[in-house]
Amino acid sequence: MTLPAALAVDLGCRSLLRMTDLAPAELEAILDLTDELKAAPRGAHRPLEGRTLGLLFRKHSTRTRVSLSVAIAQLGGAAIDLPGDQLQLARGESLEDTARVLSGYLDAIAIRTYEHEALERFADMATIPVLNALTDDAHPLQALADVHTIRERLGRVEGVTVAWVGDGNNVCVSLAEACELLGATFVGASPKGFEPPGIPFVRDPREAVAGADVVVTDVWASMGQEAERAERLRAFAGYGVDTNLLALAHPDAIVLHCLPAHPGEEISADVLYGPRSAAWDAAENRLHTAKALLALTLG
Ligand code: CP
Ligand code: NVA
Repeated sequence: MTLPAALAVDLGCRSLLRMTDLAPAELEAILDLTDELKAAPRGAHRPLEGRTLGLLFRKHSTRTRVSLSVAIAQLGGAAIDLPGDQLQLARGESLEDTARVLSGYLDAIAIRTYEHEALERFADMATIPVLNALTDDAHPLQALADVHTIRERLGRVEGVTVAWVGDGNNVCVSLAEACELLGATFVGASPKGFEPPGIPFVRDPREAVAGADVVVTDVWASMGQEAERAERLRAFAGYGVDTNLLALAHPDAIVLHCLPAHPGEEISADVLYGPRSAAWDAAENRLHTAKALLALTLG
């Protein structure tokens, strides 16, 4: 395959557990290659013939599972589902032994699980790239699509102001890290106790959103937090992204949400389905960014 110039960057056999595993130039290269692959006819680049990506998901997924599966297929490789409850892992085989054995079959593995530490343990033992398909702490594959969508819609990421409203969760952390890598300003607003460590958060969503170029939110109860849902709905009252809040942002501001959404809770339906919503573009861009990442990691 003739690969575009972006491929001067080599992510060969590198895992992506957090956005901070990437240098700024590497992240830029992924975004550049994303543009090229998105514009190319489907099937024009098939650098991953014969390569297999494992998908080990312990939480539900629509976008991540399907975009990764389609991405590797379009690049000439294959995905294989590894249902956690059917692996010997579910009967007590250790993560480390599983990582060692699967490394002998697969060329890379994407894992969605709860504790980030479990992903790190797997990656420590694996001899193939491990991609974080979401943990309780981070969601770098989503952040790739988010910053790509910002660049696509606004023409740049550097110098842009991104306002996060709501739970300072896994998606928030990875987006904040991506913004830092690319020179965007990130500010968040949450009730006390829901801010991630080390990221600037204020209490008032209006303060965070004032003049922002991008307004982002996510569900108030993530997977694994179902038991806290009622308490969280109470805590986040007043933190929904609606037209009144959006009116304080830059007049051309866009809105992102990783999806799935709960319209009427963290985002109003008119915003989510309205002209300033880039959530649907970002969902599609999960495919294109996944292709770029896989091509750079396995190509
Ligand atoms: N945004 C995202 O990761 O969606 P899924 O949970 O459907 O994969
Ligand atoms: N914060 C959400 C994101 C889902 C894609 C969760 O962890 O459930």
